[in-house]
Amino acid sequence: MSWEIIKAEYVTSAVKASQFPPGDEPEVAFIGRSNVGKSTLINSLCRYNGLARTSGAPGKTRTINFYRVSLKRDDGLRRSLFLVDLPGYGYAKRSKSERQDLHEWTQHYFRESSRLRLVVQLLDIRRELQPLDVEVNEWLREEGLEVQPVATKMDKLSRGAAGAALRMLHAKLGLPPESGMLGYSVLTPSGRTELLARLVEAVEFDATDAV
Ligand code: GTP
Ligand code: MG
Repeated sequence: MSWEIIKAEYVTSAVKASQFPPGDEPEVAFIGRSNVGKSTLINSLCRYNGLARTSGAPGKTRTINFYRVSLKRDDGLRRSLFLVDLPGYGYAKRSKSERQDLHEWTQHYFRESSRLRLVVQLLDIRRELQPLDVEVNEWLREEGLEVQPVATKMDKLSRGAAGAALRMLHAKLGLPPESGMLGYSVLTPSGRTELLARLVEAVEFDATDAV
């Protein structure tokens, strides 16, 4: 059976644990370099332009933003989860006190959120995997979090080149053959069905029928 998103709404923005929204919905977080397309992908997934604020210039998202998303299964079962949009890493020009790597309070979020089921790490299909991407990927996994890498902006390359770049990212991240990299383009659009299925799998909605 498949799930579809029927509603998405902004709930709150936070920079510390006391500001995280109450509730017991599972969470899926989106992380990646500044300008990789995190906020745009959330809008595409929810088919709701303007839900998360996006920008052509890096450094747009500066707080941890929570969006409540309601889903409905073919048979009518409903569940909800939070999509969590985080500030990007790798952008040094914000201010002297802000660093290149994951913000302290972003790290704090990853450590504190007991409802976090999956971290979607976005990588630009046109860029080589950077040491910072690998560091963040390893740090998240060391924290015991499940990480799903997704290459964004697939439309920027030809089909063949995008396929080759996807395989290269997969190899450089050292992923086992069975754990697939996903690709996404908000323009074509492509990758949405696969990513949505991955999210639903991670939050185990199909396993909680009886709840
Ligand atoms: P920060 O909040 O600064 O960390 O950035 P972000 O990762 O949230 O990026 P954002 O969603 O604001 O998008 C950055 C730029 O990439 C925007 O100009 C988007 O239109 C563009 N973009 C995102 N996804 C795609 C895509 O699939 N295809 C193309 N062609 N452009 C995209
Ligand atoms: Mg953003």
